[in-house]
Amino acid sequence: MRTLPKDFLWGGAIAANQVEGGYNEDGRGLANMDVVPNGKNRFQYMFGNVQDLSFKEDEKYPVLNGIDFYHRYKEDIALFAEMGFKVLRLSISWSRIFPRGDEERPNEKGLQFYDDVFKELKKYHIEPLVTISHYDFPLYLVKEYGGFKSRKMVDFYKKYATVLFKRYKGIVHYWLTFNEINDTLILPYLSAGVVIDPNEDKEQQLYNAAHHILLASAWAVKIGHEIDPTNKIGNMFAGGTWYPYTCHPQDVFATITKNRDAFFFCDVQARGYYPSYKLRELERKGITIPFEDDDKEILKNNTIDFLSFSYYATHVVSGDEKLNEEIKNNPLATLKNPYLGEILYKRQDDPMGLRNTLNMYYDRYQKPLFIVENGTGTNEVYVEGKEINDERHIEYYREHIKALKDAVIIDGVDLMGYTTWGCIDLLSASSCQMSKRYGFIYVDLDDEGHGTMNRYRKKSFYWYKKVIETNGEDLD
Ligand code: BG6
Repeated sequence: MRTLPKDFLWGGAIAANQVEGGYNEDGRGLANMDVVPNGKNRFQYMFGNVQDLSFKEDEKYPVLNGIDFYHRYKEDIALFAEMGFKVLRLSISWSRIFPRGDEERPNEKGLQFYDDVFKELKKYHIEPLVTISHYDFPLYLVKEYGGFKSRKMVDFYKKYATVLFKRYKGIVHYWLTFNEINDTLILPYLSAGVVIDPNEDKEQQLYNAAHHILLASAWAVKIGHEIDPTNKIGNMFAGGTWYPYTCHPQDVFATITKNRDAFFFCDVQARGYYPSYKLRELERKGITIPFEDDDKEILKNNTIDFLSFSYYATHVVSGDEKLNEEIKNNPLATLKNPYLGEILYKRQDDPMGLRNTLNMYYDRYQKPLFIVENGTGTNEVYVEGKEINDERHIEYYREHIKALKDAVIIDGVDLMGYTTWGCIDLLSASSCQMSKRYGFIYVDLDDEGHGTMNRYRKKSFYWYKKVIETNGEDLD
């Protein structure tokens, strides 16, 4: 009987800006998300609508302290090792390495921190899977250069990536260039460090940023391969296929169009050129892509080795604009799928949708895939001496792992691994809540920043350990 490959990479995923804290230690500069408060204004920042990026007295900034991974990484990694992780997806804080972003030389102390983290991972034979930039840009570059709206960012990113590839050569073998790159067009501040200039054409600014970030990604592939040809370098996009609201041909076409929001980025990164549907769309809208000499060549010759993506749920769209009205201004929203359960945190669980999604991507690109985020937020509470019963996590993961196994074993999808999102409770990117808990490991910290930050194993911790031990065979 077929099983998952023996070298399947089981593990979990975290991101610097959601766990590290230590925001002003050892020379680190401020990052874009440091100045985004929790609370109701958060999305306006992420949309790139807030011009004033200073700290406000009456706001809270939980990201500054995170879950204190900066000081507790040894304890956390020991817990990941106890679960048997083969891989840990983590990101590097750009402003730890280049505090402003445009310095000549990197910050040695920042590099040393990741030396130490990687050393600790090696001790337990855990492979690092490194996201070079996970919603993470030095604030100085955002303010001074306008983030990826500016072509100069490509050079700053190249320099930063070169330092990482050289320093961690032979230590890190798996890299992702940018987190959820397709969010550049929806949440430009979060994904590309872009604040929209209200006096200029918004869409043109977004596509300038998209082109520059795609270019930077291709440069990273080039540089990473030159420094170490054994490096495996992937992209990362917000995944999850769109379904048609009905089988009406207009709904089906709306679905094709919606799926292209992610395909556009993947097409450039995996195939090496702008797809014709996007070129026509931009032509109709009068938007120009800021191509310069050699850009096409760079994109063409430096395609990714594998595709990685986050999968939380599928989404539904209609061809009837009136019906879509309710989801139009919310990038996370979906029309309700009558065949799935309740909507929680704007998502409807759809394990079978993971199999659909994997097949769709593999059919299209024929490159290895990596699920680098999957999970669901729950709000269990720690009570001293009692088991932390997060049965919902177990059910969610069980069904999704079954689905990915079907995709690999029955359908023949080439899947490198699976890292669940927020393997340790961390700050939510969208809401900055702690109470939206994804982890196998509980962190004693609440939404107000109160708590000991002590770590506790949840029920799912022991369950996932068994899953990894049996290479996904025992899911009970
Ligand atoms: C992904 C991001 O979009 O979803 C993560 O890459 C994020 O950074 C995750 O945390 C879950 O979303 P949220 O908003 O619940 O944290």
